[in-house]
Amino acid sequence: MSNHKFPYSRPRRLRVSENMRSMVSEHSLLVIDFIAPLFVMEGKNQKTEIPSMPDYYRFTPDLLLKEVEEIQKLGIPSVLLFAKVPDEKKDNAGTEALNPDGLMQQTVRAIKKEFPDLVVMTDVALDPYSSYGHDGIVKDGKVVNDESAQLLAKMSVSHAEAGADVIAPSDMMDGRILKIRESLEEEGFHHTGIMAYSAKYASGYYGPFRDALDSAPGFGDKKTYQMDPANVTEAVKEAVTDQAEGADIVMVKPGLPYLDVVRAVKEAVDVPVSAYNVSGEYAMIKAAAEKGWLNETDAMMEALIAFKRAGADLIATYFAKDAARLL
Ligand code: PBG
Repeated sequence: MSNHKFPYSRPRRLRVSENMRSMVSEHSLLVIDFIAPLFVMEGKNQKTEIPSMPDYYRFTPDLLLKEVEEIQKLGIPSVLLFAKVPDEKKDNAGTEALNPDGLMQQTVRAIKKEFPDLVVMTDVALDPYSSYGHDGIVKDGKVVNDESAQLLAKMSVSHAEAGADVIAPSDMMDGRILKIRESLEEEGFHHTGIMAYSAKYASGYYGPFRDALDSAPGFGDKKTYQMDPANVTEAVKEAVTDQAEGADIVMVKPGLPYLDVVRAVKEAVDVPVSAYNVSGEYAMIKAAAEKGWLNETDAMMEALIAFKRAGADLIATYFAKDAARLL
């Protein structure tokens, strides 16, 4: 490298105008990078704002279709669905998760019917369906691995049958990608994608999401399956393993506090990497903006470009619509 010696080098020369800056910008945000997460609830003609996620709503399926139409019109190619399950349908066996006429399955069918080109992704984990609020089956106070993975594979097939394009397992059980991939292949779903939450940390940033789905763990925490925030080598191992087990896309979650992990994973795999700009990251910007402590648009766009800089190919974000409007 040349040594950048003043005054031969004056970095400000490339910052003099908007056009100059845009010519030399190293990364750009594209609407096609976004995945829009969506919360669906039972009922008709209702939308409920999530208190800890200002301007973000849970929709009944009929209104969700209108939201999806808007998302599609903005050019966002993909949605990631989460279902809110009423307490009386929760148990420790994922019964409702496998219901072919469950809320998730119905919603996928309705969206694919109206918007066949949209990439519909579905969250796969038991927590919204679990009377214990855990991502797997609980036995003797512990989340059991292999039985949970088996059930998650059945759940994935049920989503694929409903028409899901991509299954997104967020549970962090060992070996579940392999189980899901084998089940999809056996059932003839050769082209159903898997976006694995490969490096999902036991994070304090999921609070607002658990409000949205009423899915907080009933006992303990998720540290026996979600990762320790101190680890990065382990994240690379998880991502490489998931790729080998059949994941088409690997994900790091949360996003902003883990950009080093996004970079490390990006360098280790040869599948697309996505990052999840989670509910707590959204809530922080919204809350500070509400107080007038920072400019929401500036903070949002800066956060989103940071994902691209770190190496993310895709960004799941509650800001998808807002950012798409600006781009
Ligand atoms: C559940 C799941 C969670 C999120 C996505 N899927 C929460 C959790 O693991 O407790 C968090 C998303 C967000 O905070 O935006 N398996």
